[in-house]
Order: sequence, then C-alpha cells, then structure tokens
Amino acid sequence: MTEQRLGLRIIRYDPETYDSSETREYEVPTRDSLTLLDALVSIHEEQDSSLAIRYSCRGGFCGACGVQVNGLPVLACRTRVSSLDCNGSPVEIAPLQNHPVIRDLVADFDPTFLTLGAGEPWIQSDEGSPGSGMDSDMTQEEVDRLGRSQACISCGLCDAAVPHAHVSAGFVGPAALVREFRLAADVRDGSDRDRLERVNTSGGIWDCDPDNSWDDACPVGIDPANKIELLREASIANKIGGRKRVESETAA
Ligand code: SF4
Ligand code: FES
Repeated sequence: MTEQRLGLRIIRYDPETYDSSETREYEVPTRDSLTLLDALVSIHEEQDSSLAIRYSCRGGFCGACGVQVNGLPVLACRTRVSSLDCNGSPVEIAPLQNHPVIRDLVADFDPTFLTLGAGEPWIQSDEGSPGSGMDSDMTQEEVDRLGRSQACISCGLCDAAVPHAHVSAGFVGPAALVREFRLAADVRDGSDRDRLERVNTSGGIWDCDPDNSWDDACPVGIDPANKIELLREASIANKIGGRKRVESETAA
C-alpha cells in the first residue's frame, strides 16, 4: 500500500535577521488520526530541529499551539490533517495573525496577557453587589447568563480572526472583551459598571464589527462576537458609553 504523505509550507521567522520572507516546505507521512501538531512535532524531531513550535497539553486545554492554517486560526493539537482540504497542495502554516512573532510559529502572547490583566480579571466583590462574597450561591439562571465565557483558554484565536486593519486602528480584540463580559455578567462581581465603562472606551466594543469568523475560530464555543453584542446591549441599557462608531455611521 502506498504511503500517504502530507506537504506543509511553513512561514519561518528568524528574530536575528527579522526575516519573515522565508518559506520552507516539508513532507510527513500521514494517517487519519494525525493532528497538525503531531506533524509539526515530527518535523521538529526528525527533520529540522530549528523549527520553533509551542505546545503543552496536546489536548485543547492550554491554548498554546495556535497557528494560522491556510489563513484560518486553529489549535494545531485539535486539527486533524485529514480535515484539511488542500487539493493536493501543501498546507500553508503561519504564526497567529495580529500577534508579534517570537520565532517561526511561536506568537508572543505578552501583549494579550497584559491587555487581559489591565481588565482586572478577577471577581471584585463588594457589599453592594447582589451576590457579594465568594461563597455566594448562584441560581442556575445566573450561571446560564455567563454562557460558555468561563471556558476561555486565552488561546488568542479570536484575536487572530479580526481583520488586521481593526487591530492596527487600536481595537483591543475579542479575547479581552470576552473576559470583561465574563466578569461583568457574574452576579458576584460588584464592578460591572466600571467594566462596562472600560469596554466603551477607545478600542473597545464599538471599534469593531463583530463577525461570525470570530465564533468559528473559538475552539471552546464561546461565541465572542455574541458576547460583544451582549456588552453593547448592557451598555445601552445602562446608558453607558458613546456608540461613537455607530452614531458616526448613522450620521453619514
Ligand atoms: S474567546 Fe475563544 S478564541 Fe478567544 S481567547 Fe477565549 S477560547 Fe480562545
Ligand atoms: S497544546 Fe494545549 S491547546 Fe494545543
């Protein structure tokens, strides 16, 4: 039986020369169960140890292995190569869009984590909040309001799905806004008004066009675009923020 082989065309980046123009092609033997991460690890271990990749859990939990495949952001460990329809052409692999690159396929998440940290990503209970205190019981309805937002693995795939022009113009990205939603919607958090005010500042919920591609990119089904719509609705209901972008479009 003829051995099936998979071609991969990988964008390389060398931090010493700042050269991202180099593309190298590889081939690996493939099988139905092979993941893209398996293929990258086999290249690193058996063909080219200079190829930089990042992974940890190999099970879709740690969020470390995101790459662009044929232009779409995916977790390499959750992507079966048999699902990639390339019509016999090599699969194009590049580092995650909208993130600085450390080397080859390793994106720099420091800016993402700094942005997430700036949103004070912990529950801030106070006496006045309905569910103040970490031991508060939550009703099923209050838990349901959070949706899947608690499952975020900070993988940055939704940020990578945003058109680059929006990020260049200062849009903070869906991942940070999902984190703000998760806390603002939590009945135990007493700073929901501060959070809504923060997401209404420049680069926030009105400086983007929430898009289904963000939802498609999310490996844990959070629907980041929907969470931004919910933040917009909550802001309007609470008379917070400017809706600058929408108003300027209406006025045009
Ligand atoms: S919302 Fe989804 S895609 Fe975005 S960082 Fe969280 S888990 Fe990743
Ligand atoms: S290696 Fe952890 S999510 Fe892929």
